[in-house]
Amino acid sequence: TWTPDAFVDITVAELKKKIGQEKVILGLSGGVDSTVAAVLLHKAIGKNLHCIFVNNGLLRKNEFEEVLEQYQGMGLNVKGVDASARFLDALKGESDPEKKRKTIGRVFIEVFDDEAHLVEDAKWLAQGTIYPDVIESVSATGGPSATIKSHHNVGGLPDFMKLKVVEPLKMLFKDEVRRVGKSMAIGDERLGRHPFPGPGLAIRILGDITAEKVSILQEVDHIFIKGLRDWGLYDKVWQAGAMLLPVNSVGVMGDERTYEKCVALRAVESTDGMTADWVNLPYEFLQKTSNDIINKVPGVNRVVYDISSKPPATIEWE
Ligand code: XMP
Repeated sequence: TWTPDAFVDITVAELKKKIGQEKVILGLSGGVDSTVAAVLLHKAIGKNLHCIFVNNGLLRKNEFEEVLEQYQGMGLNVKGVDASARFLDALKGESDPEKKRKTIGRVFIEVFDDEAHLVEDAKWLAQGTIYPDVIESVSATGGPSATIKSHHNVGGLPDFMKLKVVEPLKMLFKDEVRRVGKSMAIGDERLGRHPFPGPGLAIRILGDITAEKVSILQEVDHIFIKGLRDWGLYDKVWQAGAMLLPVNSVGVMGDERTYEKCVALRAVESTDGMTADWVNLPYEFLQKTSNDIINKVPGVNRVVYDISSKPPATIEWE
């Protein structure tokens, strides 16, 4: 019978044999798959695994700093690359959802290729591909590997894609990846994390993206997600987040009328993201969260809760 401990032992031995003293590059996304792949490879080859963690400026509040610190705490040889300005610049004025995705994918590949060139004499590219990715060819939950896969037929191949590929999780399902992660003592803050799309907050800001909108949405999202944790609801939800709508509405603040932004909160139950039901969050929680958001986030004066299921709606709004 398959056990995570046996999988780790066998895979580490295989990786040692296959890779020897050669250098490997891996893109970390903060997600479960790339993290588990990195820890496995690290066990096998130590410092010869060079991890690259890119901040595209579209992550959750403090996510880049906190996750980078966690990775360093695990002993990984990881470089954090803050490319926020490069992504925001490339996205300027763009409001078409598919074009936003393509731009983010393109810039990610450019940034990653630049960083990969700095690792001298690298021979391998490691990816956190899991079995469902192999079948679907494009991952639903994303990260660098999904971004790369969906773009590798555009133009010439970047150099890092000419490296030999190593995919230690290729035969595993998500729940097995989590069990392998647990058996290597990866914490729940990584393994229990909600899925988060590769293009990040860019597809939760409807319309064009500015640094100011990103920062508003980060604050709103932070209040919502922290609230879910504080109320013991985080693990009951498959995925949650906030959308910044391209809508202003009238409100009152003291004696003044305001004309400010509206945000939508979304929380869904799902097993694989293919279908999803909206979650019946307690009214008291929604009431408190809504008040917190409007009181604490300047520029937002209205909060709505999304009660659409998938299909026919999708989880993300773009
Ligand atoms: P939808 O909105 O299609 O989302 O119901 C299903 C799941 O996929 C995630 N998602 C993405 N992940 N790149 C990604 O890496 C994307 O472009 C993308 N679009 C949606 C979404 O967060 C949900 O988990």
